[in-house]
Amino acid sequence: MKTIIEPFRIKSVEPLHYTTSAERERYLVEAGYNLFGIAAVHILIDLLTDSGTSAMSTEQWAAIMRGDESYAGSESFFRLKRVVDDLTGFRHMVPTHQGRAAERILFTVMAKPGHIIPSNTHFDTTRANIEFTGARAVDLPIPEAADTQLRMDFKGNMDVLALEELIRSEGASKIPLVMLTITNNSGGGQPVSMGNIEAVGRVCRAHGIPLYLDACRFAENAWFIREREDGYAQWSPKQIAQKMFSLADGCTFSAKKDAFANIGGFLSTNDDRLAQLETNLLILTEGYPTYGGLAGRDLDAIAVGLEEVLDPDYLNYRITSTAYLGRHIADHGVPIVEPPGGHAIYIDAARMLPQIPPKQFPGQALAVELYRHAGIRSVEIGSVMFGDAARHELLRLAIPRRVYTQSHIDYVVEAILEVNARKHEIRGLEIVEQPPFLRHFSAKFRPL
Ligand code: F0G
Repeated sequence: MKTIIEPFRIKSVEPLHYTTSAERERYLVEAGYNLFGIAAVHILIDLLTDSGTSAMSTEQWAAIMRGDESYAGSESFFRLKRVVDDLTGFRHMVPTHQGRAAERILFTVMAKPGHIIPSNTHFDTTRANIEFTGARAVDLPIPEAADTQLRMDFKGNMDVLALEELIRSEGASKIPLVMLTITNNSGGGQPVSMGNIEAVGRVCRAHGIPLYLDACRFAENAWFIREREDGYAQWSPKQIAQKMFSLADGCTFSAKKDAFANIGGFLSTNDDRLAQLETNLLILTEGYPTYGGLAGRDLDAIAVGLEEVLDPDYLNYRITSTAYLGRHIADHGVPIVEPPGGHAIYIDAARMLPQIPPKQFPGQALAVELYRHAGIRSVEIGSVMFGDAARHELLRLAIPRRVYTQSHIDYVVEAILEVNARKHEIRGLEIVEQPPFLRHFSAKFRPL
């Protein structure tokens, strides 16, 4: 059969809420044209993020009932640890309440002012946590990633020559670790090849620098490797994931993505001394090492999710359905970051709306228009989020895992194509109020 179906059936449903066009106009005004400020009940299809928004399985809900809420030595922790040990092979793992808590602990123990931490592309919380320590976050994507229209298999790769050059010019002692974000979220959800992880790992080892994976979407990355990289077609996603982790010295992980959990994360390392420092910090702000900021039941949900996500039928459906959205809009003239990524489709808003200069936020203007037209929430990844450091003006449509069916996505396609048909009428925005950081969460805008 050619049709790839959702590899699940639905046991419990949640209603969607329709709004009228007049209501949406009012909500936009009240929210200062910032979709973070709109109550979720006023959103019809929510593509703001794939993080923490997954539908859990019957097995995950069953595991939640088995959660052991003991303060110390909870059985839930040992169940999670067995799964994580088998998958990653790292010597130490501490649970954290989400990915950025793992980042904060990692960089607090490893980074200091004057340090430089390179990545293929840092996610915004990773960058913020690095900069908070006084260190500098440097993105070294391959040069081809700058061209949103270029189609290549592993556009999320790191530029290995640029990494070597950075180490040569700055000195290895200034670089406490190198990170690879798999898949590369801020770079368009693009995968990183096994060859690239190996090459980056070789450079790191030659200079005694540890390599860490930001492994939020490791399973989606593994599927791309299986589909696109020579030699992996016969490997299981789990074997590929195990090999990816074996090439690194540790990882940060947000269980809100590929573990289908609504909350959670962990931090892993092979370094005994660091693990001790990390555990001390964990106790200070997250909790005792066998629960780390989570309930026992959350640990169980993550343990089950980490195994479910490696099911080839699921990953095939996941990657195919994301591409379905991408192809249906791109093949009708909407410029997206090519090729479609794993968890999201990114519209190149600067290319779609050339009449709106970056200073008038084309991505934000498009997000507003898509909500106004059809009640769909998306998120700007451009000058609102990154200020002058923005490389592109993108609109991200992130797809929650196992939540929306193909007809929901068909509705999104129809809405985007209708907005595209009158794209010349869309005007930019100006900021009228902004907080000192992370302005994309609460800045207020005015239409021009
Ligand atoms: N790393 C990457 C690559 C991420 O995409 C995220 C979160 C984090 C780290 C932080 O994890 O949210 O659990 O603290 N990304 C979400 C998103 C928020 O919408 O892309 P967290």
